[in-house]
Formats: sequence, structure tokens, C-alpha cells
Amino acid sequence: MHVLSLSSSSIFLFLFLTSTIPISAAEPTTSQPPAPRRRQHRELSGDYYSKTCPQLENLVGSITSQRFKEVPISAPATIRLFFHDCFVEGCDGSILIETEKGSKRLAERDAEENKELREEGFESIIKAKALVESHCPSRVSCSDILAIAARDFIHLAGGPYYQVKKGRWDGKRSTAAVVPQNIPRSNSTVDQLIKLFASKGLTVDDLVVLSGSHTIGFAHCKSFTGRLYDYKGTKRPDPTLDPRLLKELRMSCPFSGGSSGVALPLDTTTPFVFDNGYFTGLGTNLGLLGSDQALFLDPRTKPIAVEMARDKQRFLKAFGDAMGKMGSIGVKRGRKHGEIRTDCRVFL
Ligand code: HEM
Repeated sequence: MHVLSLSSSSIFLFLFLTSTIPISAAEPTTSQPPAPRRRQHRELSGDYYSKTCPQLENLVGSITSQRFKEVPISAPATIRLFFHDCFVEGCDGSILIETEKGSKRLAERDAEENKELREEGFESIIKAKALVESHCPSRVSCSDILAIAARDFIHLAGGPYYQVKKGRWDGKRSTAAVVPQNIPRSNSTVDQLIKLFASKGLTVDDLVVLSGSHTIGFAHCKSFTGRLYDYKGTKRPDPTLDPRLLKELRMSCPFSGGSSGVALPLDTTTPFVFDNGYFTGLGTNLGLLGSDQALFLDPRTKPIAVEMARDKQRFLKAFGDAMGKMGSIGVKRGRKHGEIRTDCRVFL
């Protein structure tokens, strides 16, 4: 039984301390980029770089496969990074911008909601961009590299390989102030989630299917302690949480004095594999986040979650399709709205 194995072994309890790996610098170029011209008003396309950087996917792939071997946590980190990029100002690489030194105007990545985005995700994109720049200078947007890297990591972890359409330009704005209303919270209600996803052009099906990316990766205690000790002001734990899992979680995440670096798997059954284990876990009350378990309780979302738990292939196919939709949110094209950055961390 899932929970017994949880109780009897510490294998499911993972401790990650905040990474201190330095970010390597991409080589900025000084000249104005000869960005792609004629496609400005067209849709994203699979062959967008067929003339300007035909080896793009191989270049990014060489970095993602190396990172997956050496720093596997880069996979969930990058997938989440892509999600947080797309939901704020569209998929335009604005999450990668660093706050200017001394500036009070914080960039997106420094918003409270983005504090737990792991460095390993940012670092994967910086490395991929540096390699791409060395072969195709000033041609490929950071936002396209992020979209390709997220797909690669999903596939490397056992998930679907879907075609990534390209042609995104990088945004010219990155503002922490607009993040809170665009990023869902671990205690969001299903109503709030449905509304937020709808505002991005995503359906209830997309919401459930995309939440399936919690089949890999981890959450820090603060993302779910509300469920362990004082659920909705009741001074009691969330009654929908499996009692044995509750005990385990309380041991790793005490009411006070715990380490802020502790992170536990979102999918307690197969936390390193991109499968439908997240959905089967929800079926036995093993969802870690309140917002995840809620999907299995609400009549609008439960049938979809049940179907994803029943049919892994169906989930993988639906996930690839939904990522394509998510990757098209608020896409910018052309110099008026965008740019092709040389260093993903700073505007041109
Ligand atoms: C439906 C609403 C969602 C909510 C409320 C939500 C919330 C969260 C929270 C609270 C965490 C843990 C953060 C931490 O404590 O470190 C997390 C992790 C994660 N989320 Fe979501 N998320 C949602 C949807 C998504 C979507 C749509 C994706 C991608 C398509 C995604 C990908 C991930 C990944 C991969 C992780 C693990 C990150 C890591 O281990 O570094 N999430 N999410």
C-alpha cells in the first residue's frame, strides 16, 4: 500500500536545500539582432527556425539531457518555470529577467509567488541560451528555448514528446506587481482555478490535465502546512488528507521550528516518473496540495481526474496537447511588442 511504504521508509521523504549553484553568464552580443522578420504576424509554427537555426532543438536537447543526468531536479524546476512564465504576461520569457541592481521595481521572478522557483530551472535556460547563441547569434528567443526545454524535460522524465511550435518573441516588461493575480495558490478553490485558467483561454479539462505535471517535483512545507494543523481556521487537519500521510507530513513539517529547505514529493507514489501516478494518488487521498486534492472532490473536475488515473496513455496524449495550448498564451511577435534577447536575464 502506498501509505505503508511511506510510513516504513524514508525513501519518499526528500530533503532539498536551496541550491547555491552559480548561474553561468551567456555571452551578450553588442549588435542589434537580425531577428526573424517576415513571420511577425503569423501563428507559431514548428519550422519557424528552419532557416535561421535549423539545429536549435538538438542544441537545446544536448543541454537538457546533460542536465537531466547531472541535476535531475532541473526537470520539474523548468516545467514549473514555463508555467509561471506563460501565466504572467504570456509565454514571453519575462520570468527570466533579473531585477536591476538597486531598483525598487522588482521583476516577476522576485515576486513572492515565484520565490520557490528553483535556480536549476533558470540555470538550464541560461546554459541552453549560451549554446544556442554560440551557433545562432541573436536569432532565437529565450521564450522559445524555455518552451523547448520544458518539453524535453517532460519527455526525459517519461512523459510525452510533443511538437513545440515556435516564433515567440521575448517580452519587454517584467513586473512583480502583476504576478499575484495570475499565479494559482496551493489553497485556491476549484472555482478560482477554473476562472484563472479560463482567463488564459484554458478549459476545465486543461486545468486538470496540466495539474498532472505534479506527477514529478516537490513542494516546500509552507505550501501545505495549512492542511496539517489548522485547516481553514478549524484548528484541525484537512479531513480529506490520508491519516497516515498526515502523520508522515507532520514529522517532516512540524508546526514550528521546521527547516524552510524541506520539500516533499507532490506525487508520493512515483515522484521521479512522468506518469499518471499523481491522479491515482488523488484517488486515495494522497494529494499533497489542497488545490490538487480539491480536483478530486469537485464534480466538475473529478470525472476528468478519474479518467486520467484510469488511462495513462490518454493522460500523456492530453498533457502534450494541453502544453501546446498553454505554450500559446499571450504570445508576442514583432519588434513593437517584443525582442530577441541575447542574455535572457536582461532586456536588450
Ligand atoms: C492548477 C494550479 C496549480 C497550483 C495551485 C500549483 C501550485 C504549486 C505549488 C504550491 C508548488 C510547490 C512549490 C513549492 O513549495 O516549492 C508547485 C510545484 C510544481 N508545479 Fe504547480 N501548481 C499548479 C499548476 C501547475 C501547472 C499547470 C504546471 C505545469 C504545467 C505545474 C508544474 C509544477 C511543477 C513541475 C512543480 C514542482 C517544482 C519543483 O519541484 O521544483 N503546476 N505547484
